[in-house]
Amino acid sequence: MPASLTGINDFQLTHQSFIMQRDIKSLLNPALQNIATYKVEGGQQAEIKLNQNESPFDVPMWLKEEITTEFIKESWNRYPDILPYRGMKAYADFLGISADSVMMSNGSNEMLYTIFLACLGPGRKILIPDPSFSLYEKIALLLQSRIVTVPMLPGLDFDTDAILKAARDEQVDFIVLSTPNNPTGKSLSFDEIRLIAGSSDALVLVDEAYIEFSRQRSVLELIDGLPNLVVLRTMSKALALAGIRIGFAIANPRLMAELAKPKIPFASSRLAEITLTRVLANYSLVTDAVSFILHERDLLYRELLSIEGIEPFQSDTNFLIIRVNNAAAVFQSLQREGILVRNVSGYNLMDNCLRFNVGLVDENRRLIEKLRTL
Ligand SMILES: Cc1ncc(COP(=O)(O)O)c(C=O)c1O
Repeated sequence: MPASLTGINDFQLTHQSFIMQRDIKSLLNPALQNIATYKVEGGQQAEIKLNQNESPFDVPMWLKEEITTEFIKESWNRYPDILPYRGMKAYADFLGISADSVMMSNGSNEMLYTIFLACLGPGRKILIPDPSFSLYEKIALLLQSRIVTVPMLPGLDFDTDAILKAARDEQVDFIVLSTPNNPTGKSLSFDEIRLIAGSSDALVLVDEAYIEFSRQRSVLELIDGLPNLVVLRTMSKALALAGIRIGFAIANPRLMAELAKPKIPFASSRLAEITLTRVLANYSLVTDAVSFILHERDLLYRELLSIEGIEPFQSDTNFLIIRVNNAAAVFQSLQREGILVRNVSGYNLMDNCLRFNVGLVDENRRLIEKLRTL
């Protein structure tokens, strides 16, 4: 068919071939060359799935029914609120703080993008302990900011003195602390975080994705006294809502009003707001699940200690890190048995390390049995 009949004129054809001859990458943000597409090695399907730090317990059917009954009464043709005020009010009431201190997002990953957009840009400096949650580095690179990494200690604990020193010497604008930390499982103490945030002019983001499993207490109570502190929470771990996508930031209202500016409007669905409200109203489900996970975590740790060739690390989260002789081989042997874990060997200081979250009793037993035979 002649080009004129397809609606494409000669100019467009020439233009198309001109663009195709050029490297398509030259049309895009040059920072894309420094980041990779997010992938989960081994995929997201397995008989025993322990690779994404999820809860092993789904929301019970009676509660799902309660939630969906309420959800079908909503107007699906109408936009939800610009920001999910119902969900934000429910979470603020649950925490006992004012609603203008909280912001809800479509998973805490979305909130990370929002807060990083509010804080970073070319020429701005971010401090990230290393290793830490990979998304921090990715967004910082995308925003063409300078990254100051502070290595963990050899046993994977935070190096607080080095963080304090780097924050001061490098005059960083933004500090992000995942504590308890993914992928190491280690935490900073309440006092250490207070010291870092209290002695720095930088904005300090404390990602408490795993706080419900921690021996340390949350720094939430510090937001009134520390105007540069933001706390990040997710409903994907202890609250077992990874599939619904709910995250929160908590900060003093003046800071929150600024952080909200780059927020994607209408990003949280009506379903997320209703689910959150109902799950918070039945919070004993969460505390029971957390008690189970902590009990199993300790059992797993002790059993792992008794297996020759495996070095387990103490964890403050719902997952464990082990060092083995050959992580790639162990990963594959487990995968052949239908057990999916995460090979985290690529992270700094974590050579030959594997990560797996606590599963159901039978899942944990099968994992241990298999590890004993390897
Ligand atoms: C430290 C940390 N922060 C944030 C997230 C993201 O959680 P979500 O986007 O599901 O809320 C994760 C997920 O694994 C995490 O490990």
